[in-house]
Amino acid sequence: MTEHASAPLAGDAPFLIGEAMSGGYGTGPDILHGCTIAVNRGEIAVIVGPNGAGKSTAMKAVFGMLDLHSGSVRLDGQDITALSPQERVSRGMGFVPQTSNIFTSMTVEENLEMGAFLRRDDIRPTMEQVYDLFPILRDKRRQPAGELSGGQRQQVAVGRALMTKPSVLMLDEPTAGVSPIVMDELFDRIIEIARTGISILMVEQNARQALEIAHRGYVLVQGANAYTDTGKALLADPEVRRTFLGG
Ligand SMILES: Nc1ncnc2c1ncn2[C@@H]1O[C@H](COP(=O)(O)OP(=O)(O)OP(=O)(O)O)[C@@H](O)[C@H]1O
Ligand SMILES: [Mg+2]
Repeated sequence: MTEHASAPLAGDAPFLIGEAMSGGYGTGPDILHGCTIAVNRGEIAVIVGPNGAGKSTAMKAVFGMLDLHSGSVRLDGQDITALSPQERVSRGMGFVPQTSNIFTSMTVEENLEMGAFLRRDDIRPTMEQVYDLFPILRDKRRQPAGELSGGQRQQVAVGRALMTKPSVLMLDEPTAGVSPIVMDELFDRIIEIARTGISILMVEQNARQALEIAHRGYVLVQGANAYTDTGKALLADPEVRRTFLGG
């Protein structure tokens, strides 16, 4: 079943939903036009679509970085539309933006500490969990993050977001600029994170590979939902394949 409109999910209320979101930047034109994005608890939702479709804008809207003039965002049944990004972090949302997602002059470990700045409890166990997930970061913890490879930097960015112990992790193109092998590894780690019960909402350029691991996929075109279905169904949809997946 492919939807051509931004219909809500069937079944139980999703853990996180940005519903019928419209809005843009400042006084500029609307970028999002009734866009709906949602993810269930412990599942992986993937947003794909052409460059400039509004994927990053939709992520920013869900995270509270965009003024919506209509639509709402709900987390675990609560309306959080009016909350600031920082308040959303304290409610359990983690966000790794598409660019400038680490402090390059700080060490790996300082980046992880920065990620935990809102916490007042012992952050050491979480740091160990991040190092268990990404062992190379343990080896490089005293190195400036800017000296790491592209894939390792993305690990730092994801690790930094995990330091707040989020219940939902939002990732904007986590595999940008990395090799296919590094991409596969990162996707495996993302699956592992979801298995711990953390919901993943992710934008990806590597549409095919990302939809393979997605419980739910969204194809955005010009700020609106073009196709919404399970990852598997989108991969099998001839129209989606022809138009967005290169055949
Ligand atoms: N800070 C901004 N101020 C004004 N317009 C912006 C801003 N950021 C993005 N836009 C515009 O919003 C539209 C959607 O951009 P967005 O970055 O959300 O697309 P995207 O789908 O993430 O693209 P990409 O695949 O290149 O990352 C584009 O027309 C872009 O020029
Ligand atoms: Mg983008």
